Amino acid sequence: TPVPVFDLVIFGATGDLALRKLFPALARRLAEGVLPAGSRVVGVVRRVGSEDDLARLVAERLKEDGLSQREIDAFLPMLVPVRVDAKEPDSFKELEKVLSDGERVRAFYLSTPPDLFVPIGRNLALHGLLENGGRLILEKPLGHDLRSARAINGAIGEVLPEARTYRIDHYLGKETVQNLLVLRFANTLFERSWSSRDIDHVQITCAETVGLEKRAGYYDQVGALRDMVQNHVLQLLCLFAIEPPNTLDADAVRDEKVRVLRALRPIAGSEVLTKTVRGQYGAGSVDGRPVPGYLQELGHESMTETFAALRCELDTWRWAGVPIYLRTGKRMAERCSEIVVTFKPVPHSIFPARDSRTALEANRLIIRLQPNDGLRLQMMMKVPGSGRLKLVPRTLDLKYETAFDMRTPDAYERLLTDVIRGDQTLFMRRDEVEAAWSWIDPIVEGWHEYYAVPHRYQAGGWGPSQSIGMIEREGRSWAESDGGL
Ligand code: BG6
Repeated sequence: TPVPVFDLVIFGATGDLALRKLFPALARRLAEGVLPAGSRVVGVVRRVGSEDDLARLVAERLKEDGLSQREIDAFLPMLVPVRVDAKEPDSFKELEKVLSDGERVRAFYLSTPPDLFVPIGRNLALHGLLENGGRLILEKPLGHDLRSARAINGAIGEVLPEARTYRIDHYLGKETVQNLLVLRFANTLFERSWSSRDIDHVQITCAETVGLEKRAGYYDQVGALRDMVQNHVLQLLCLFAIEPPNTLDADAVRDEKVRVLRALRPIAGSEVLTKTVRGQYGAGSVDGRPVPGYLQELGHESMTETFAALRCELDTWRWAGVPIYLRTGKRMAERCSEIVVTFKPVPHSIFPARDSRTALEANRLIIRLQPNDGLRLQMMMKVPGSGRLKLVPRTLDLKYETAFDMRTPDAYERLLTDVIRGDQTLFMRRDEVEAAWSWIDPIVEGWHEYYAVPHRYQAGGWGPSQSIGMIEREGRSWAESDGGL
């Protein structure tokens, strides 16, 4: 469907996310000819006099992002700065004036701290700006626990129906994440073995090499579990594990995702000591460059985890008994998000079992999400030659880069146009967000109750040794990334 003419209002237009992701995404969409003429991007600034700064800041960022001068010049006329104080109802009159003309899709992107979601939502409603199909886009974090998430959802629900509320999890906008549904439901090959019958265990890793960046104020309050697991990692788990929805309809897909979240077996009380590992990076080196530890970067003591590993299980017919290991961390050995599926061993090996030359390794399917996205299937092969039989694992390798000779759009490019088109499939419904928090909350509580302090790990490694211990106790090991090569 073509994108209709729109006004997209961005609150927090001079913030990091807007400058780094939203404006470049919109400018690229415009350059591709996807955005209809007459559409506008209204950038909300807070400080008096900063209206003029916006165009300059945006132009600088677009240039850094590799857009051509021609593309930048085409985008800037779309940009309309307006000054609004989110907590000051009267100041919304300015916005009302800017928006008053024409019949067009109207969406408000709240790229602000979550404590402003409700005041902005109420002020927009007060001025009638959410009428005629207006939409709200909410960025994470959607609260810091179930209670706060419910409070935000409840208050937003009073000014806007769910069908016009778009909660972003940018992982869902990633091409490779959407491809999970295609891999599963457009192919018969894997779907038939997608269960405890054939799968031994699953690992989901989202590793990053960056540290705190400039986000100390936010991150230290939140930690890896709430920053990454509650949203991105659980969304990956959902798409990996869902039952086939009947259609691709937004609610059909989201109904199935909620069922996965609700099937997560709770990790509560002292179980946090055996089924979770918290870590915090110390000094080390990443990409051959020395980097300081978390506490040095932060400048004060902290018990916040920058790494979390969890062993979970889904209580469903399909997945009962299949351990799912999740891990995410900052300052790890490399940037890598992947899902590794390890299949069960053959029921009986006809090859000499005690001979190391013919020992079998289980098949593994590696779904590489970023970078170097692709699919790899590891299987046993015979080493050519007429001497003694020798078997080795080798991989069937599908790289998206070579399979499709085209630029992979950034997650936000897709998500922003989906909002304008009115497609909620890739956005989190209220019950999804709340189900995720319901599972996360007892883990956080358990950590407090049982003094689960983060274990130190060296920056540039794969997390604390306790994380390796957790999986090795069960006779398994983390699949070390090989850079997707
Ligand atoms: C964000 C987290 O949601 O996702 C960040 O707040 C994290 O801490 C980022 O770095 C990772 O996103 P991506 O797209 O770089 O994998």
